[in-house]
Amino acid sequence: MIDLYPLAGPLLFRFDPETAHGLTIKALKTGLVPPARGKDEPALHTRVWGLDFTNPVGLAAGFDKNAEVVDAMLNLGFGFVEPGSVTPRPQPGNPRPRLFRLVEQRAVINRMGFNNEGLEAFAQRLERRRAAAKRAPGIVGANLGKNKDTADAADDYVIGVRRLAPLADYLVVNVSSPNTPGLRALQGRDPLRALLERVLEARAACGLTRNPPLLLKIAPDLTVEDKSDIAAVALESGIDGLIVSNTTIARPDGIPAAMRSEAGGLSGRPLFEPSTSVLREIYALTGGKLPIVGVGGVATGEDAYAKIRAGASLVQLYSAMVYAGPAVVHRIRRELAELLRRDGFRSVAEAVGADLR
Ligand SMILES: Cc1cc2nc3c(=O)[nH]c(=O)nc-3n(C[C@H](O)[C@H](O)[C@H](O)COP(=O)(O)O)c2cc1C
Repeated sequence: MIDLYPLAGPLLFRFDPETAHGLTIKALKTGLVPPARGKDEPALHTRVWGLDFTNPVGLAAGFDKNAEVVDAMLNLGFGFVEPGSVTPRPQPGNPRPRLFRLVEQRAVINRMGFNNEGLEAFAQRLERRRAAAKRAPGIVGANLGKNKDTADAADDYVIGVRRLAPLADYLVVNVSSPNTPGLRALQGRDPLRALLERVLEARAACGLTRNPPLLLKIAPDLTVEDKSDIAAVALESGIDGLIVSNTTIARPDGIPAAMRSEAGGLSGRPLFEPSTSVLREIYALTGGKLPIVGVGGVATGEDAYAKIRAGASLVQLYSAMVYAGPAVVHRIRRELAELLRRDGFRSVAEAVGADLR
């Protein structure tokens, strides 16, 4: 793969982060970024929820909020992509600035607030993609959010499930963004149970021959009780998996003073340890019965491997791409295959949860 990011990266860093992101999406849409999928080693192939992933490295939600660059991102080498979060109605999100780079820490703080074009535009893009003669191979999920001004959150997730269940390979109920007031309270035992019951009912009511797996995406900022409640409710509800984790509202040591006070969710390198530790706990609490997508601070093959050993069946990333460009995906795939080989694992699946055995 020819890596243009050493040239494009410094250029993008001259712009404020949100403008840089907008330019990146435009470049991807117009095909300015050359496809560079490459071949996946057989050891990276993995089957989760009956879906075939050519590699376990996915693009996390928030990069492609409006499902505009699904094929472009798959063509860069991701095994799966997760557009969204999408809300039923379009909404502008929070006032700018709302996205900050912490370059030395290889981190990002965002308080975007689910800015997006709404469910209809999102769904139509997925429909057009389905109808297209040529599309990139790979798994495409859809991450669902709620509008800021919707009183009963479950209503919004139900609307999302109804529209997208026939169009997405999997669905995510995101109750862990720190930037929508009240959202994370849905992670509590009773509200969570009620919410999952309604979204699962909505999925069943679609009458599809094959239901898309339904995953719950959780925050890293949870008490011991929260975690055990989430694990119990996830198991009893019948959802298919978990995504661990979203951004953190914590500000670990090493975050510069000027940034500590910016509200929002922190992602990237400082999130690696806390999110992996929550992943490990949730894997143990669910007895490995629910596949988990590990996300938070993945930037190398070693990071991806550590998440897998802690219990992740798949991994995702976003922030590492800001600093290393899309070549990071290739590097992770190559390094991960090497690490699996070194330790005698013939597949990703064999290594899932290896640290806890
Ligand atoms: C700018 C930005 C926007 C995000 N938007 C969403 C979102 O809409 N929905 C969601 O579930 N997660 C969102 N996330 C969280 C990421 O999907 C991911 O969980 C988190 O960034 C940790 O991964 P990372 O350290 O690799 O970035 C966003 C993250 C960033 C940096």
